[in-house]
Amino acid sequence: MPSLSSSRYQRIFLGLTIFLGFVFLLVSIGKIVSPSVFAGDGSSDGTTNQTLGFEKIFVVNAPWRTDRKDAMSLAAAHSKIQFEWVDGVLGETIQEKAYPPGHHRTLSSGSLGSWRAHMDAMREIVVRNLTTALILEDDADWDIRIRAQLLSFHCAARKLSLLTHEESNQQNPPAFENNSQNPIELAKRSTVPITSTDNHNAPKEPYSRDWDVLWLGHCGTDLPSPSPVTPNRVMILNDFTVPSPKHLRLRESSPPDIIATLYPPYTRVYHRASNNTHCTLAYAVTQRGARKILFELGVRDLSKGFDFALSDYCAGMVEGNGNGLDRKLECVTVQPPLFSHYWDERGRSDIMGLGVGGRPEVGSRYVIRSVRANLEGLAEGSETLFEQWGD
Ligand SMILES: *[C@@H]1O[C@H](CO)[C@@H](O)[C@H](O)[C@H]1NC(C)=O
Ligand SMILES: *[C@@H]1O[C@H](CO)[C@@H](O)[C@H](O)[C@H]1NC(C)=O
Ligand SMILES: *[C@@H]1O[C@H](CO)[C@@H](O)[C@H](O)[C@H]1NC(C)=O
Ligand SMILES: *[C@@H]1O[C@H](CO)[C@@H](O)[C@H](O)[C@H]1NC(C)=O
Repeated sequence: MPSLSSSRYQRIFLGLTIFLGFVFLLVSIGKIVSPSVFAGDGSSDGTTNQTLGFEKIFVVNAPWRTDRKDAMSLAAAHSKIQFEWVDGVLGETIQEKAYPPGHHRTLSSGSLGSWRAHMDAMREIVVRNLTTALILEDDADWDIRIRAQLLSFHCAARKLSLLTHEESNQQNPPAFENNSQNPIELAKRSTVPITSTDNHNAPKEPYSRDWDVLWLGHCGTDLPSPSPVTPNRVMILNDFTVPSPKHLRLRESSPPDIIATLYPPYTRVYHRASNNTHCTLAYAVTQRGARKILFELGVRDLSKGFDFALSDYCAGMVEGNGNGLDRKLECVTVQPPLFSHYWDERGRSDIMGLGVGGRPEVGSRYVIRSVRANLEGLAEGSETLFEQWGD
C-alpha cells in the first residue's frame, strides 16, 4: 500500500532528522563545555613524547632519599616519562671557595644544597648543549592528563609571545575609553582566550623557543598588573583539570588564590612570571636560559635561595654590574600550576605539608588525577582513578 509505505518513509525521515539533530547537539555541547581541541592526545605534537617535548628531563634527588627515588621512578614509568637524575647536594659539603660573590652565609644549609643541585643541572644543560630541558624536584606530582595540559601550555606560550610582539609594535595604543576600576572587568580585558585556531596555527616545534624559563610548578606567583589596552595574559576556559574555585589555595588555611576570585571557575591563566614566583618544583629552560642562569647565580652572585633569585631575575630585579645590560629572563608561568608538591602520610614534604591545625595533609594541591595518589591503582591496573579536590 502506497500510503502505508509513504508514512513509513515519513517516520524514517523524522527519525533520521531527530537522530542527526541529537548528534549535532552532542557535538556542539562538546564544543562548548569541553576543551576538546586541547584535550586530544595531540599525537601530532611534540609535547606528547617521552620527554614531554623537551630534549631531556632531569629530576633533582638527594641520593640518600631512596624513598623518593622509588616513588618518582614509578610515577614517571606510569606516565611514560623518561628522565635522568641530578644528585642533590648537602650544603655542608660545599667548600667556601666554591661560592660566587654575594651573601651566601645568610642562607641555610638546605638552601645552599638546593642551589648547588640546580646549578649542576644548569651546567649539564650547557655542557651538553641541550636545546631545552625540564627540571623536576623529586616530590613533584602531576595529573595523568599532563600531556593535554602541556599542549595547551604550548599554545598559550606562543600566544603570549605574539601579544608581546604586538605590544612592542604598537605605535599609538588606542585610548582606554572605559576607565572602570572593577578588578574582574580589568582582568577580563587584560586576558585573551586560546581558541582552536591557536592550536592549529601553533608552531610544530614544542613551546616555540623565544623564552628562557617555563615555570610549570610553583607555590604561588603574582599576576602581572592588568593591562586592558594590550592584554598580557592568556586563558583557557572550561579546563576541567582545574579544581573548583574553593580548592584553589596554597594551603587549606590560605586565602583563595587571586585567579579564583577574578576568573570564571575552571579557567587556567598563563602569563609572564612577573614577581614573587616561589618554589622551583618544575621548570623548563632553553639553552639560552640555562646559560643566563648559570652565569647569574653560579658565577656572578649568590645572595638568595635559588627560587627567590630566579623569581627576581624573571621580574627584572637583578642589579647587574652597572654595565647597562638589560638583565631579565623571559619567564612564562601558569596558574594553577601544572606540577605540585606531593606529601605522603608521613607529612615529610618540607614546604607544603601543614594543613588545618598543623596536621600533615596527604596529597598535592591543584592536581586532580594525581599520579602519586594513584600509584597503587596504577600498579594494580585499576580502571578507576582516584580524584583529589572533588566538588
Ligand atoms: C621529544 O621531543 C623533543 C622536541 O622535539 C626532542 O628534543 C626530544 O628528543 C624528544 N624526546 C624523545 C625521547 O624522543
Ligand atoms: C649547540 O647547538 C646549536 C643548535 O641547537 C648549534 O648551533 C651550536 O653550534 C651548538 N654548539 C656547540 C658547541 O656544539
Ligand atoms: C565599562 O565597564 C563596566 C564594568 O565595570 C561595564 O558595565 C560598562 O558597560 C563598560 N563600558 C563600556 C563603554 O565598555
Ligand atoms: C615584587 O614584590 C615585592 C614584595 O611583594 C615588592 O616589594 C616589589 O615592589 C615587587 N616588584 C615589582 C617589580 O612589582
